Amino acid sequence: DGELSLSRSLVNSSDKIIRKAGSSIFQHNVEGWKINSSLVLEIRKNILRFLDAERDVSVVKSSFKPGDVIHYVLDRRRTLNISHDLHSLLPEVSPMKNRRFKTCAVVGNSGILLDSECGKEIDSHNFVIRCNLAPVVEFAADVGTKSDFITMNPSVVQRAFGGFRNESDREKFVHRLSMLNDSVLWIPAFMVKGGEKHVEWVNALILKNKLKVRTAYPSLRLIHAVRGYWLTNKVPIKRPSTGLLMYTLATRFCDEIHLYGFWPFPKDLNGKAVKYHYYDDLKYRYFSNASPHRMPLEFKTLNVLHNRGALKLTTGKCV
Ligand code: CTP
Repeated sequence: DGELSLSRSLVNSSDKIIRKAGSSIFQHNVEGWKINSSLVLEIRKNILRFLDAERDVSVVKSSFKPGDVIHYVLDRRRTLNISHDLHSLLPEVSPMKNRRFKTCAVVGNSGILLDSECGKEIDSHNFVIRCNLAPVVEFAADVGTKSDFITMNPSVVQRAFGGFRNESDREKFVHRLSMLNDSVLWIPAFMVKGGEKHVEWVNALILKNKLKVRTAYPSLRLIHAVRGYWLTNKVPIKRPSTGLLMYTLATRFCDEIHLYGFWPFPKDLNGKAVKYHYYDDLKYRYFSNASPHRMPLEFKTLNVLHNRGALKLTTGKCV
């Protein structure tokens, strides 16, 4: 059975990976990489048993009415009221309905992108997914500018836009969103309590400025379903990172998935320092046990999938 063989192979390969010493565990063949279309189809089919990205990518208007109370996905004791603004921004139908692409880029935020000169290649894909409103203009040569789908954790408001304390922070945010035109802006608003004020402010700014961006708010079951899929394949991830979530969703829409900016390690293969994010000074806090993510394990898994032709991982220069 396909699922079993994929999981066996993932486990065998990670055993092998762990047995090997030093940096060689992260090496992958770029020159001879070839897509394995039957494996791509098999993975899509297996993931569909857990979630349907077309549906789970966003709740829709008819799922709620204003005033409804929901429980946070990862904090069931706490609740959120569906406000009028939030309700008015829920899509009528899934923004990914019937959308299919030959090649897609999923762009992570690692500093490994700096000096990669991958901008042109990234922009040449039919559909480009980015994470956490990462800036592009100043880094265009390395990361490109095309963004068809971009995620935004509520914490981004605090981290990158000063918590909207000043008018200039709000202007910067509105400017960033206006550059997206009618791309999908994906806001995980129902995960944990804490960001609800930020989400409300974001919603209010979108409405007030009549921004064209197409808002999406992941379904209440998405994260559990994604975790279930990876667990079944012997990859025990407590909280999938945004990048892994995006790869998992993209398997539904994309025949060929190319990953860039995935490198959750402080050094490259030559021992040179790599920034955690290509655009800010956030540090590698993710290696502490307090961290919800297991990016190194995720990376090893993606590397195995690269070596089997299920996806293409680029961690070097694009030439
Ligand atoms: N990523 C990576 N290596 C890094 C930084 C990021 O592989 N050094 C990938 C991860 O898959 C991550 C994605 O790029 O999910 C986007 O980066 P970031 O915005 O930092 O991700 P989040 O998972 O959303 O992090 P957080 O929960 O802290 O917001």
